[in-house]
Amino acid sequence: MEQVILSNEPTLSGNLTQENLKKVAKMYGTPLYVYDFDRIEEHYKQLKAAFSGRKALICYALKANSNLSLVQKLASLESGADCVSIGEVKRALLAGIPKYKIIFSGVGKKDSEIKEALELDILFLNLESKEELFRVEKIAKELGKSARISVRVNPNIDPKTHPYISTGLQENKFGVSVEVAKEMYVYAKNSPHLEPIAIHFHIGSQLTQLDPIKESAKKIASLAHSLIALKIDLKFFDIGGGLGITYKDEKIIQPYDYAQSILEALRGLDLTIICEPGRFLVGNCGVFLSSVLYEKQTDKKRFVIVDGAMNDLIRPSLYNAYHKIVALKSGEQTKADIVGPVCESGDFLGKDISLPSLEHNDLLCVMSAGAYCASMGSNYNTRLKCAEVAFEKGKEKLVKKRENFEELIQNEKELMQK
Ligand SMILES: Cc1ncc(COP(=O)(O)O)c(C=O)c1O
Repeated sequence: MEQVILSNEPTLSGNLTQENLKKVAKMYGTPLYVYDFDRIEEHYKQLKAAFSGRKALICYALKANSNLSLVQKLASLESGADCVSIGEVKRALLAGIPKYKIIFSGVGKKDSEIKEALELDILFLNLESKEELFRVEKIAKELGKSARISVRVNPNIDPKTHPYISTGLQENKFGVSVEVAKEMYVYAKNSPHLEPIAIHFHIGSQLTQLDPIKESAKKIASLAHSLIALKIDLKFFDIGGGLGITYKDEKIIQPYDYAQSILEALRGLDLTIICEPGRFLVGNCGVFLSSVLYEKQTDKKRFVIVDGAMNDLIRPSLYNAYHKIVALKSGEQTKADIVGPVCESGDFLGKDISLPSLEHNDLLCVMSAGAYCASMGSNYNTRLKCAEVAFEKGKEKLVKKRENFEELIQNEKELMQK
């Protein structure tokens, strides 16, 4: 395949032009998430093309952004889904992803979730401990079923990413060692209620270095060879997600190089590749719009106080993550901290960001907000969940209504003492 160099950067282009953003802010108010579904399609196709000619299934990781219309868009491109709760499994199904393309992963699943997933007959469950294997076997037996499973193997390789999104070291809670995985596969092979069909690893998120992925793929492929020698009938090689994007100036791994290193590791193994990208597909296909409430100058600092906050977009507060932030107006720039109305000093969207002088209702745009932003939103400070809008083929559509106060309190209100 011919190699095409791709960028996955924050940019106000495509459907996300200043003009379009101003228009939807006026129509739907702020804070507001805005997505570019056409760019999501491009990213999906770029990744798919990297694996062309091979049996490969992309299972979009819903945790990155589980908006139903967004997942429906990916379903229309024939994506599968990687889910980490039964809620996400149900979202994937509702959005039109067929059950045979849905995986249920995660380090801790409730009995009720396992039961429902088995009843829904999804592709397989990714298991992360022996204890979980035994629970799945027990529940499958009660249901008179055989559960299709995979084991998440922790290759103990440093992914060289932020410690909070690093998962491939033995000090992390995820997966099991190669040795334990082998025991789990042998046990599963001999159980009438377990059917081990896949092998899985995922070493972390926002990965920008290929070597740890290569090394992990080799290690897990070598385990796959030995399992096949033990007559374990593997069909899928699940390489997880993790492909990084450019937030600031990071150089990203090219899908072509990614695919080549996986294919090299898989040489001699006739397995369908599954990859579970989240951030790569949607991260730079969304922005978060906030309106300026006021500027505040202290002796030490310039603060721009906006109507969006850590409850809407928590990555800066949670990981000290950097998001490029631009004002939708021009002018001479000085540095400012951009903060929200939440009562926490940790409530900031950006620090030392160069911005022009701003007035009430001017718009600020937080870039790279398509992944792990809306999906991590909360109601902290009794703030309402944001509205979400998507552009597709140049046209905007509302894909999530702004929550209202009644909806937010309904589960408590009826329980109050009369
Ligand atoms: C098992 C698994 N698969 C896929 C993903 C998606 O990762 P990313 O959004 O970095 O592609 C994650 C993220 O944490 C994960 O834990």
